[in-house]
Amino acid sequence: MKEAIVARVLVIGGTGYLGSLIGATLLEKTQDFVVLAARPGHQRDDIVARLRMEMTAAGDPDGAALERLRIVRLPAPGDSRGFSSLFRENRIDEVINCAGAVHYFDVEALQASTIDLVNDLLRASKEARINRFIHVSTAFACGFSLEPSVEALLPEPPADPTPYTRFKRRSEYLVAESGLPFIILRPSIVIGDSRDGHYFGPDYGVYQYWESFAKVMMDRYRDTIHVVASDHSLPLVHQDAFVSTLLAVRARGACGAFVNVVSPEEQLPSVKALWRQYCDLVVRPHRLFCYDSIEEAPVRELDTRHRAFLNITAINSRISSWGWRFDTTHRDRLIEEGLVFPPVTLQSVRKCQSRFVASSPATRDYLQKFEQLFPDAPKQPRARALADALAEGPGGSWLL
Ligand SMILES: NC(=O)c1ccc[n+]([C@@H]2O[C@H](COP(=O)([O-])OP(=O)(O)OC[C@H]3O[C@@H](n4cnc5c(N)ncnc54)[C@H](OP(=O)(O)O)[C@@H]3O)[C@@H](O)[C@H]2O)c1
Repeated sequence: MKEAIVARVLVIGGTGYLGSLIGATLLEKTQDFVVLAARPGHQRDDIVARLRMEMTAAGDPDGAALERLRIVRLPAPGDSRGFSSLFRENRIDEVINCAGAVHYFDVEALQASTIDLVNDLLRASKEARINRFIHVSTAFACGFSLEPSVEALLPEPPADPTPYTRFKRRSEYLVAESGLPFIILRPSIVIGDSRDGHYFGPDYGVYQYWESFAKVMMDRYRDTIHVVASDHSLPLVHQDAFVSTLLAVRARGACGAFVNVVSPEEQLPSVKALWRQYCDLVVRPHRLFCYDSIEEAPVRELDTRHRAFLNITAINSRISSWGWRFDTTHRDRLIEEGLVFPPVTLQSVRKCQSRFVASSPATRDYLQKFEQLFPDAPKQPRARALADALAEGPGGSWLL
């Protein structure tokens, strides 16, 4: 039998959501050694605990694979000697870079994470003659382009939603023009696991909406809710689809590939449908008004909290109102070759929403108050059916 080739993979950004997901997946699903380089200020135990949570959720509670994990310190920016010895001492032959500031407008942080860090990594990677550099970019790196996002270096679009997408596009050029064998993965908005909805990431994407709504709008019951929600589908992708794609691309030995890791558009729910579902099952207003843009919403007539909510989510609402389109040649070919890519559907988002609700004290309090205010309110029939359906699956918990 042919022995699997074991790689020594340097994971950058492993203290974050996608990085710890990738670290856990490599440990779990491959025999590779994982060297996770963290910036100062992180505790080893916290990093391990996070990986362990992901591994436990994926069905490996004993975490034996953690023996193949090494946690090291990431050298300071520009410390070329430090980067060289990091690669040399750990005999790195592959890099997966999923570090990145996601602050849309913090140009300094974007420069540091998408340009300076990438340059440091590329220089050391070339010196160490690594076999592969995998770079996690974003599906939105194409900006507000009028054409579907190509799986190649991206042309300058007429406009960018924020500096974030411009920086991500620039970092792709650095990687692609480095001369190293590379893969650029471009996930869209990553949400929880399709099987049980678990999600250990920060409040990005739909979680920003749910978390902000819980914090700002659940102080009391509101009969009428106004939101910015278009008919465009929201480009979400399940985290398990993302990591399966990563494994498949690696196994295929792809080189020089740009992969848009996005869910099939036909099944993606629209922003409006997601709001209806959230209101139907959680918020339960009598009336929900949806607008195509914040300019159309009657902002001045709303109470302070409602206004604040629309403002907090304004940028993401604007991004979600764009009709994003992506070339998916790589994904489709991988699926033909056997990749299991669970699509995002209204039903699969429900699972993530349900897990979020179960873990959000503010949302649970709200639901309790709602029951007290309207004891005779009909129990949501669809919520009931969903509760039954989820109870049958792994980890299914609903509106506790
Ligand atoms: N989450 C998504 O839905 C999504 C979708 C598409 C693309 N992406 C991309 O995926 C990457 C990771 O996203 P995430 O969701 O995992 O974000 P995250 O949870 O905020 O993690 C960000 C990671 O990047 C590290 N980092 C940030 N700036 C750095 C710098 N200057 N030098 C070194 N490390 C730095 C952070 O380290 P510290 O912990 O030390 O701060 C952390 O490990 C980002 O580049 C993002 O653009 C994410």
